Amino acid sequence: SGSGLPLMVQRTLAKQVTLIECVGKGRYGEVWRGSWCADSVAVKIFFSRDEASWRRETEVYSTVLLRHDNILAYIGSDMTSRNSCTQLWLITHFHPLGSLYEHLNRTTLTRHQMMVICLSTVNGLLHLHTDIHGTQGKPAIAHRDIKSKNILVKVNGECCIADFGLAVTRQHVQDQQLHNPRQGTKRYMSPEMLEQTMNLQCFDAYRKCDLYALALVLWEVCRAANGREYRPPFHELVPQDPSFDDMRKVVCIDGARPAPPTDTHPTMVGMANLMRECWHQNPSVRLPALRIKKTLLKLATNDNS
Ligand code: ADE
Repeated sequence: SGSGLPLMVQRTLAKQVTLIECVGKGRYGEVWRGSWCADSVAVKIFFSRDEASWRRETEVYSTVLLRHDNILAYIGSDMTSRNSCTQLWLITHFHPLGSLYEHLNRTTLTRHQMMVICLSTVNGLLHLHTDIHGTQGKPAIAHRDIKSKNILVKVNGECCIADFGLAVTRQHVQDQQLHNPRQGTKRYMSPEMLEQTMNLQCFDAYRKCDLYALALVLWEVCRAANGREYRPPFHELVPQDPSFDDMRKVVCIDGARPAPPTDTHPTMVGMANLMRECWHQNPSVRLPALRIKKTLLKLATNDNS
């Protein structure tokens, strides 16, 4: 199992990788820059308590042909035992600009850069959300933890989506294979998740949650295009590490949403309208990824200044 490669080939992968520097640390574990066959690679080292995320991410990457410019490219997975301690590795392409979250914290964006980021992110989510039939096909996948920290910025200015530790297919939902003790990030949880009114048996309900979280990411990106300092969504309304109840009060009871851009440029007006539709309280009002992509393409085409 694992990467889909024969076990002997797969086993040697981690031994060929040299870890160079730690580029990220979090609740998930660590991300290192490493080298493999003269290439830079990213090595995500999971905490062993989060084995469920490593398993799911490895399964999603190796049973589904997930090759797309806007999805982080997979190299392989490895489970090794070091002095009676299990090490769980996920090896992917490395992106020196790091996450969208880090990028927005250090830069302001032109409107063009903003559109490239938004379009490529939506394009990645569209690929994930789409059922493709045929030999090169893939099932539809819901991500369940869309946020600016799980989106990486490539050197060409486009983004790719990372972290499939919570991802689900229709099959997973049908078989009730959702048992990961980990939850999505509370700050980005949709109103129906917070109210616990979401139909957990319905695959489409998970896609709708991704679209809500995407709207918050679009808001983060648009702020950077207006030259304003980076802020996470709901920064003025909840504490740094908000609880489920903090979020429920703000998002469900008060019905609060971030303030969309007030810039009167037609592109920014279009972006403001788009985010309002996608973070709507009623999940059925939210636009599907294909509709968002088409709207963004239209806004980008009409933006000549
Ligand atoms: N941080 C998390 N994943 C990364 C990757 N693949 N490349 C660079 N930085 C990262």
